Amino acid sequence: MGNVGYHTRNRVEEEWMALTGLKEDALKLILFGGKGGVGKTTCASSTGCFLSKDFKTLLFSTDPAHSLSDSLGQKLSDEIKEVRGVKNLSALEVSAEIALFKFKAEYENEIKKILDTSTYLDQEDIDSIFTLPIPGIDEIMGFKTIVDLIEKAKFDKYIVDTAPTGHALRLLTLPDLLDDWIKVMAKMRWKYRYMVETFAGKYKPDEGDDFLLAMKKTVKKVENLLRDPNRCEFIAVTIPEDMAILETERLLKSLSTYGIKVKQLIINNVLSLKRRFLGQESRDCEFCRERRKEQEKYINQIRRKFSNLKTTIIPLQPKEVKGIEALNNFKNFLFQ
Ligand SMILES: Nc1ncnc2c1ncn2[C@@H]1O[C@H](COP(=O)(O)OP(=O)(O)O)[C@@H](O)[C@H]1O
Ligand SMILES: [Mg+2]
Repeated sequence: MGNVGYHTRNRVEEEWMALTGLKEDALKLILFGGKGGVGKTTCASSTGCFLSKDFKTLLFSTDPAHSLSDSLGQKLSDEIKEVRGVKNLSALEVSAEIALFKFKAEYENEIKKILDTSTYLDQEDIDSIFTLPIPGIDEIMGFKTIVDLIEKAKFDKYIVDTAPTGHALRLLTLPDLLDDWIKVMAKMRWKYRYMVETFAGKYKPDEGDDFLLAMKKTVKKVENLLRDPNRCEFIAVTIPEDMAILETERLLKSLSTYGIKVKQLIINNVLSLKRRFLGQESRDCEFCRERRKEQEKYINQIRRKFSNLKTTIIPLQPKEVKGIEALNNFKNFLFQ
């Protein structure tokens, strides 16, 4: 790829690259993922500011510790809201809990119908099964909100600020989890169907069957979207530190098992010794030089380990990146 040969160099100063390809029309869903605190939310919000110049963009977070509101400096909710100060950008913080509540309210009849027609359950069983958690249903329903929006083409681009690695990976395994649940429900149906056919002849599918079919379709849709490299891109975010690199390695490995291709990686918080970031004094300070030396070691390590990925280096800013103005400034580093 473009950065072949960089590994042999030590200085990384002139090699700040930029994220590319995000304006491709086919690309709809862009996810940012990585360890906690590496800058996922900042990169996601800033990318939102960038893409909204040309595309109607929706920024959303699946991290239960929603911090999009803090990053943008305005209150968001689980309803889509236009972001003040950025034309064409909307945002929401998906609440898995609310999505689950809505799901159960919407499909209570269908689920209970399936349980009810299953042979061995009495009313008490049915009620207790209904209140049992369905694995991953809350998150997948949260995600379904997005899949539905994409289908209705409400926005051109969807940017996801994911939760730290473990949680984000869970989101990606959800289709499998939910699929297992659907299979159990379907099994109950088949037994019932077999009995009806045996004793009454013809079986007429009811709302329970429609529901299972619709669920199956949703799972498939989410899966297909996440695995389609033209429509979906996962951007890994890391920092030049040992623990973050190890976690990035695990993340990339898991993503590849789920068939999700990663093409580019952001290395954030890189201490620049350039005057425009730190000023003459700090540039020459012993501490900065030492810190920088260590970072360079890790940056080179990252490039060796992930040599198939395009890397974009983002300098450590003198201040936290919060609010529209700071994000707009930050986007110049992401997309020079
Ligand atoms: N390049 C940077 N320079 C300085 N501060 C940064 C930089 N990137 C992120 N930050 C700050 O670091 C903190 C963590 O970033 P955030 O995007 O919330 O990380 P994550 O979403 O991965 O947990 C935030 O306060 C953010 O403003
Ligand atoms: Mg975050």
